[in-house]
Amino acid sequence: MDTNQFAIAIMAAGKGTRLKSKRPKVLHEIGGRALLLHVIAAAKTVVPADHIYCIIGHESDRVRAAVAATGVQFVLQPEQRGTGHAMQMLKADFELSGASLPKHLLVLSGDVPLIRPETIAAVRDVHLSERAAMTILTAVPADPTGYGRVLRLKPEGPNQKAGPEVTAIVEQKSLGPDQLNAPEINSGIYCFETKALFDKLDALDTNNAHGEFYLTDIAAMLVAEGRRVVAIKADSVDEVLGANTIAEIMHLDAAMRLATAKRLMANGVTIFRPETCVIDSEVAVGPDTVIEPYVQLLGKTTIGSESRVRSYSVIQNSQLGDNVTVRNGCILDTAEVADNAILGPYAHLRPESRIGEGAHVGNFVETKKATLGKGSKANHLNYLGDTVIGAGVNIGAGAITCNYDGVHKHLTTIGDGAFVGSDSTLVAPITIGAGAYIAAGSSITEDVPDGALALGRSRQVTKPGWVAAKRAASTEAKKN
Ligand code: UD1
Ligand code: CA
Repeated sequence: MDTNQFAIAIMAAGKGTRLKSKRPKVLHEIGGRALLLHVIAAAKTVVPADHIYCIIGHESDRVRAAVAATGVQFVLQPEQRGTGHAMQMLKADFELSGASLPKHLLVLSGDVPLIRPETIAAVRDVHLSERAAMTILTAVPADPTGYGRVLRLKPEGPNQKAGPEVTAIVEQKSLGPDQLNAPEINSGIYCFETKALFDKLDALDTNNAHGEFYLTDIAAMLVAEGRRVVAIKADSVDEVLGANTIAEIMHLDAAMRLATAKRLMANGVTIFRPETCVIDSEVAVGPDTVIEPYVQLLGKTTIGSESRVRSYSVIQNSQLGDNVTVRNGCILDTAEVADNAILGPYAHLRPESRIGEGAHVGNFVETKKATLGKGSKANHLNYLGDTVIGAGVNIGAGAITCNYDGVHKHLTTIGDGAFVGSDSTLVAPITIGAGAYIAAGSSITEDVPDGALALGRSRQVTKPGWVAAKRAASTEAKKN
């Protein structure tokens, strides 16, 4: 099949009044990604990005900026006067640019984000095999209220089953009393013979409940001219559900996250109570990894095999290796964690934390722009910021890097095998040599050479019997 015969239009100009939100509807997110980005991703599996036309209008600059990296084309619909008007803008854009018309036009909705590539392809294929002027993707949900309804041609005689032919699409507010229960909804996803659609667009009017140009009116107009309009039912209802309210968006979000969890489980990941986990759609996890309840895996996070993420951890845009243990309550943002490392409970890895193979980052430890070498340990109550720590280093409880002088951030370098005693403060910029020892409680302000011992505190003074002598003296004073 010649893919140049097809283009895809995605209607994304609407405001989404029913959301009561400042954010344009198509930039609301499900599965951690904007609705429109899901639709574009599906569209790109069917035609190349430069054959995809996003119709934008409400907050168009914001929408354009959010999806520009996908390489799609944009058509501006400055005023949103309905889905038919959106197509009029597309037609005007083709006329203005003089670009040759694609023979067929697939139309998707920016607010129907669960649509699968296979389903778009199925609409295309039925459209071709039926030689239709318009093909409509439909579904029969439990409650069709709010959607436009697709009316099929009723064949003559009893016991005759309705075929694929459609007579009209009727919007919810225009349904007659006998049509209110019509079960088959219009998904807002279509394939048109481009010329047949464009020839009819100028004849649309706004004589309807919303005072808008309805793209759905094209169906009856084509039928009136003897053109073939057909419907194809989607395999699953969820796939064509629209997102008009926050509650509907959250419903789709839950459906998408459950689908993501199922995909991971099908690849050998154990997820306890998947309905309690928040897993974004682009997350990848290797087999035999265990995800406990109430875990969030966000953004472009990847986790290797045989790892375990315990409850209440939130991991975002991070890369974890194999056999990594993330104990309860850890927060990771843009971190890299090598094989066999152990984190937490309650570790906080901020951006550019790189935890080496088999390293330990324990409870109440915060890292930022910190590299911790192979097998190194920082197990209790540390702050490690702007630091490069070698292999086999032990950072004692409460030790911290003082990376900030109030104006600039400075680097702390710690060589392989060094031992930093508890409660030390390392005032950067500073270098601690390989194998060096820092005495507990030290404030270190000067570089320490390899293998040296550094003490940065005053010597202890012990006064034997001082307490008893002091008490005796104060009792004597009271008497007098
Ligand atoms: C539309 C269909 C309805 C169908 C439903 C499926 C019409 C008239 N009705 O209704 O039959 O059951 O989708 O979800 O088409 N948009 C623009 N420009 C506009 C208006 C809308 O680009 O001027 C975009 C919106 O951003 C949205 C899509 O078109 O992505 C659908 O618009 P919406 O207002 O949500 O239509 P529905 O009322 O849901
Ligand atoms: Ca809608």
